[in-house]
Amino acid sequence: MSYPLLSGDQAVEHRPLAAPPPAPAPASGRLGGAGTRLLAGPPPEAGWERLADHMARLGALDVRRYDPADLRSMVSESGLLGRGGGQFPTAAKLGTVASRGDLGPVVVVNASEGEPASRKDSVLLEYRPHLVLDGAEVAARTVGATEVVVYAHRARRRAFGTVAEALDERRSGPYHFRLVDAPPRYVAGESSAIASFLSGTGALPRGGAPVAVYGARGRPTLVDNAETVAHLALIARFGPAWWRQAGDDRAPGPTLVTLAGEVASPGTVLELLRPVSVGGLLGATGSGAVTGPAPRAVLLGGYEGTWVDGPAAMAMPLARGAAALGGVRLGCGLVAVLAEGACGIATTARLARWLAGESAGQCGPCRIGLPAIADGLETLATGRSTKSDLRHLWRLTAQVRGRGACGHPSGVVGLVESALETFSVEVREHLRGAACLPATRGFPLPVVRRP
Ligand SMILES: Cc1cc2nc3c(=O)[nH]c(=O)nc-3n(C[C@H](O)[C@H](O)[C@H](O)COP(=O)(O)O)c2cc1C
Ligand code: SF4
Repeated sequence: MSYPLLSGDQAVEHRPLAAPPPAPAPASGRLGGAGTRLLAGPPPEAGWERLADHMARLGALDVRRYDPADLRSMVSESGLLGRGGGQFPTAAKLGTVASRGDLGPVVVVNASEGEPASRKDSVLLEYRPHLVLDGAEVAARTVGATEVVVYAHRARRRAFGTVAEALDERRSGPYHFRLVDAPPRYVAGESSAIASFLSGTGALPRGGAPVAVYGARGRPTLVDNAETVAHLALIARFGPAWWRQAGDDRAPGPTLVTLAGEVASPGTVLELLRPVSVGGLLGATGSGAVTGPAPRAVLLGGYEGTWVDGPAAMAMPLARGAAALGGVRLGCGLVAVLAEGACGIATTARLARWLAGESAGQCGPCRIGLPAIADGLETLATGRSTKSDLRHLWRLTAQVRGRGACGHPSGVVGLVESALETFSVEVREHLRGAACLPATRGFPLPVVRRP
């Protein structure tokens, strides 16, 4: 299907702005790698791609020449699902905000990447900032916004500094961009927390009406993850059919993942072009190669993701749709390897304690329930739990699931329950008195505590 471009009074056919690469041959690629889409372009040694080079490579993108309804159709046909964790259909969100276009919508590029081990959004900002900013303009054009906020952490210094310089390069553009320093807290990346922060109150999730309806200062607000937005730039340029050649039918398009844990180079970001097993992905990349024997388990989707037993994970097809089939979400794309011999219960206890401390403290089940869950896991990991304590821990997770004003408590419960199931052998040993230390390598946690 082709889309007319608006050009003065005349409509002209939409043609791809540059010859896109052929159907992807490799299953995955890294920055500058063959067949990649988001990560295509110069290798990392070349530094970030300046506006002139970006336009020379991909062609200029004047979004004012596109009809907003056509852009929405393209996104709908692409089947793009958000890459911020929830996998929500992007076209539906665009539609909601666009339907309230008369109320002065705002577009927020959520580049806060609060997941401590994730790097994919930072890599986009550090190396391909103009792809993200192009995508933000596509989003703004689609929903009728003139104001775009790039929400990122100053503490991720290279990413923040690069996007600031990239914004300087496009000062004369039609959209008013603002770079906003996100508060350093995990829940500050949640969409209603962002809307609250931009409204002048704290970055606290607030529940209630979706931000697409009632967001920053009461205006309809489109909050999209930085990677999601970068995909919009590709879909608008090359069309949905080309973009859908990557990925799988249930979740089309390429997707970024970050390797973490017991791998040779934690923090490596790869672009998945077609489904590949976790084992295949880790084995195919020098940086992903598992150090030592086969892993005990793999944590997929982030620190609020799902543990999968090592052998099952190594054979599991890693694609957004395929992984979701097995009840496992790829979430923010984290693939974190726990080494054989490391204790998954002790490691999860450490993550759960940190996540409990990240609660905004507003809702009882989260404020009281999450520390109690972390206590229970720590007691278990140190060999001091009884069977009755374990039953109590399961009761606690059931009580907390689905409660609170945001998805944080349910995310922690998902992590903990999957740990209790995946590490059932270790659970039995702990009930017999075994005590373990957590694996820390490649499972980083921010060291700075805040008030
Ligand atoms: C506790 C919590 C933390 C979150 N942190 C982030 C984050 O750091 N970055 C992000 O893009 N989305 C984060 N999200 C998801 C956002 O609320 C929102 O769904 C997302 O930015 C929407 O973008 P998408 O539709 O492109 O995925 C978080 C959600 C929760 C519940
Ligand atoms: S559920 Fe937790 S993190 Fe979410 S708003 Fe309530 S207290 Fe804050």
